[in-house]
Amino acid sequence: MQKTLLLTGASRGIGHATVKRFSREGWRVLTCSRQPHDPACPWPDGERNHIQLNLSDPADTINAVELIRERLDGLLHGLVNNAGISPKGPNGERLNTFTTDIMDWGKVFHVNFFASVVLARGLREELAAAKGSVVNVTSIAGSRVHPFAGAAYATSKAALAALTREMAHDFGPLGVRVNAIAPGEVETSILSPGTEKIVEGLPMQRLGQPSEVADVIYYLCSDQSSYVTGTEIEINGGQHV
Ligand SMILES: NC(=O)c1ccc[n+]([C@@H]2O[C@H](COP(=O)([O-])OP(=O)(O)OC[C@H]3O[C@@H](n4cnc5c(N)ncnc54)[C@H](OP(=O)(O)O)[C@@H]3O)[C@@H](O)[C@H]2O)c1
Repeated sequence: MQKTLLLTGASRGIGHATVKRFSREGWRVLTCSRQPHDPACPWPDGERNHIQLNLSDPADTINAVELIRERLDGLLHGLVNNAGISPKGPNGERLNTFTTDIMDWGKVFHVNFFASVVLARGLREELAAAKGSVVNVTSIAGSRVHPFAGAAYATSKAALAALTREMAHDFGPLGVRVNAIAPGEVETSILSPGTEKIVEGLPMQRLGQPSEVADVIYYLCSDQSSYVTGTEIEINGGQHV
C-alpha cells in the first residue's frame, strides 16, 4: 500500500529535498506552502497534491485541516512540519529581543510553532489509524544564541522542541511517534552572509546538504526508527562539540 506524507514548505531547501526523497521511496506527498507548485522541479503528482496555504494565518491553517483530511482517505503515515521563517532587519541584521517587532514575533510563532500544533492535532485520527510519525524541524538556534538567527526564530524553535516532547507523550498511546531534527548550517536560501566563518570552525568543515537532512527525516518516518520517539536529532557536522 502506498504511504502518504504531509510536508509543509516543500518548494525549496530541506523541504524540497525531502519531497524528492519520499517520492523516490514511493510515498505520495501532500505539500503546503504559500506559492503554487513550481513546475521547474517536478515530482510525481506534485501539482495535484499541493495545497496553497499561508501558515502565518491561523484561520487559514485551521480551515485547511478539513481540506487536507478530505484528501487523505483516513490514513496519514507521516507529518513533517518543515516550513519556517527567520526574518532579518532592513539591512539583513539579526533581530534581537529589543529590535523584533512584536507583531513579527507572533507571525514567526504562527509559521514555526502553532502551525505544527494545528496540523498534528487536526490530523490525529489519520495519524493514529496509520501508526504514523511526526517530525518537527527545529534548529541549532533553539538551544543556543546564534549569530544570525534572531530572537523570535530561536524562541519559536525552542518552543517547537518542547512541543515535540509534549506531543510524544500525548500521541504515544495512539501509536504515533513524534521526533524533532535540529539542523545546523545547511545550504539553503535561509542562510545569511557570513555563514562561511561558522563553517570554518566546524569539525566537519563544510555546510550540510538538504539531502543529508532529508535522509534523517526519512529514517524517522520509517520502521527503522520504530522505538524512537520524543527525541531531537542534531544534524550539524559537530557544531555542538
Ligand atoms: N537551512 C538551514 O541551515 C536550517 C538550519 C536550521 C533549521 N532550519 C529549518 O529547516 C526548515 C527548512 O528550512 P530551509 O532552509 O529549507 O528554508 P527555505 O529554503 O527558506 O524554505 C522555506 C519553506 O517554507 C515555506 N514557507 C515559508 N513561509 C511559509 C508560510 N507562511 N506558509 C507556508 N509555507 C511557508 C516556503 O515556501 P513558500 O515560499 O512557497 O511559502 C519554503 O518551501 C525551516 O523550519 C528552518 O527553520 C534550516
